[in-house]
Amino acid sequence: MTDPTQDPLQSAARDHLWMHFTRHSSFENGGEVPVIVRGDGAYIYDDKGKRYLDGLAGLFVSQVGHGRQELAQAAAKQAAELAFFPVWSYAHPKAVELAERLAALAPGDLNRVFFTTGGGDAVESAWKLAKQYFKLTGRPTKHKVISRAIAYHGTPHGALSLTGLPGLKAPFEPLVPSAFRVPNTNIYRAPEHGDDPEAFGRWAADRIEEAIEFEGPDTVAAVFLEPVQNAGGCFPPPPGYFQRVREICDRHDVLLVSDEVICAYGRLGTMFGAQKFGYRPDIITFAKGITSGYAPLGGMLVADRLFEPFKEGTRMFAHGYTFGGHPVSAAVAMANLDLFEREDLLGHVRRNEGAFRATLEKLLDLPIVGDVRGDGFFYGIELVKDKNTKETFDDDEAERLLRGFVDKALYDAGLYCRADDRGDPVVQLAPPLICDQSHFDEIEQILRAVLSEASNRL
Ligand SMILES: Cc1ncc(COP(=O)(O)O)c(C=O)c1O
Repeated sequence: MTDPTQDPLQSAARDHLWMHFTRHSSFENGGEVPVIVRGDGAYIYDDKGKRYLDGLAGLFVSQVGHGRQELAQAAAKQAAELAFFPVWSYAHPKAVELAERLAALAPGDLNRVFFTTGGGDAVESAWKLAKQYFKLTGRPTKHKVISRAIAYHGTPHGALSLTGLPGLKAPFEPLVPSAFRVPNTNIYRAPEHGDDPEAFGRWAADRIEEAIEFEGPDTVAAVFLEPVQNAGGCFPPPPGYFQRVREICDRHDVLLVSDEVICAYGRLGTMFGAQKFGYRPDIITFAKGITSGYAPLGGMLVADRLFEPFKEGTRMFAHGYTFGGHPVSAAVAMANLDLFEREDLLGHVRRNEGAFRATLEKLLDLPIVGDVRGDGFFYGIELVKDKNTKETFDDDEAERLLRGFVDKALYDAGLYCRADDRGDPVVQLAPPLICDQSHFDEIEQILRAVLSEASNRL
C-alpha cells in the first residue's frame, strides 16, 4: 500500500480541500482521504482501482447509475450549443421544455416550475414563496413554518432553521425565527399507538394541527414534510397520515410543502413521493435525482393558485440564482428522464422493492439490528444495544461503534453507504435505481459480516 503522506493528491486533499460535513481531524495524523475516481453502473472505483457497491447512489443522487454516456453526451452537446444563459427575464429552450415536462409528470395542478441549483435552495425558495404569497393575498402575518424533529432540510439559513437537528444548528444560531418542530413518524419509537399504525398516524398528524393552533393559524404559512423522512433513518408515513395532514392544512389555510429532494425521481418507485402515498402538496421541492447527478439542479413545483398573484402588474418573486435552471443541467435532466422512460425505471423499482425489503429484513436475525424500515429503494437499518428493550447506544458507544468501526468496515468490505447517528444510529441505503437482486444480496452479505462483527464487539 502506498504511504498516503507521500501521495501528492492525498497531500493536496488534506492541505486544500475543505470536505463537507467532515471531521478533518481524521486526516491530520496521516489518515487517508478516500478518493473516488470513476463509476460504472451501480459501482464506484477508488484511486487504487478498488471497487465498491454504491449503496447510497452517491448521496441519494445517482438514480440511473454511473458512467451513462447518454447523459455525458447531452451535457457536452448543450455546453457546445449554449453553455449558459440565466432564466432571469429570459428563457432558454431546455429550461422551458423541462418545466413543461415536470408539470405534466407532477401530481395535481403543480404546473409552475422555479429552478434552483440544489435542494437547500429549493427549500429556501419555498419558504420565501409561501411568505410572499400570503402577503400578496391579504394575509401578511402568515410567515411561520412547521417541520419535523430530526428532519434535514438543507443548510441555507432558512432551510437550516427548518431542519430539526439541534447539533447542526447550534454553531449558526441565531437562525431565522419562526420555525417550529413537531414529532416525526418514527413508529419504532412511538410514544403512543406504536402497535396501531393508523392511530399513530392520526396522533402524529394531530401534532401538526396542535402546533398550528398553538402558534395561531393566522401566523403559520407552511408545513414542510418529506414523503419518507431521511434523517433518523427512513420514517415512512403511517397509513392516512398525509391525508389527515392535508385536511389540517386546508382547515387552517397552511401550505403543504412536500420536500422531495430525496424522494422524487423514482426513489420510491413513483416520479414524485406524493404520488406514492396519494396526497396533494401545494409545493414540491426537488433536486438530486432529477439529473442523476450528471449536473447540479434543484427546484420547486408550485400549484397554479400560488402563481396567480404574481401575474399582476409590477409584482414579481424577487428571488433567484445565477445558475438556477442552468442549460447544461436542464439538458441533462431531459436526457435523464428519457432514460427513466426507456428503461422503465419506475416500474423496475416497483417490481423489485419487495425483494429489496425482504433481503434487508434477513438481517433482523442479528442481535444488533432493531428495525429495518423504508420504502422503494430507500431504507434505514436501526442498530440497537438490546433488541428486546430497544435500548439504544449512548453517545460514546455510538461514536465508537458507528464512526469507529461500522462506517469504515463497510467501506473496507466494498460497500459505500452511510452509518448515521443524527438520530438513533442507523445504516442508510439508497442504491441506484438500476440495482437488482444480485446487488441486494451483495449489500446484505457485506452488512451481515460487518454488523455481526459489530455485535461481537459490543
Ligand atoms: C429532504 C432534503 N431537503 C433538502 C436537502 C438539501 O439539499 P442540498 O444538499 O442539495 O442543498 C436535502 C439533502 O440531502 C434533503 O435530504
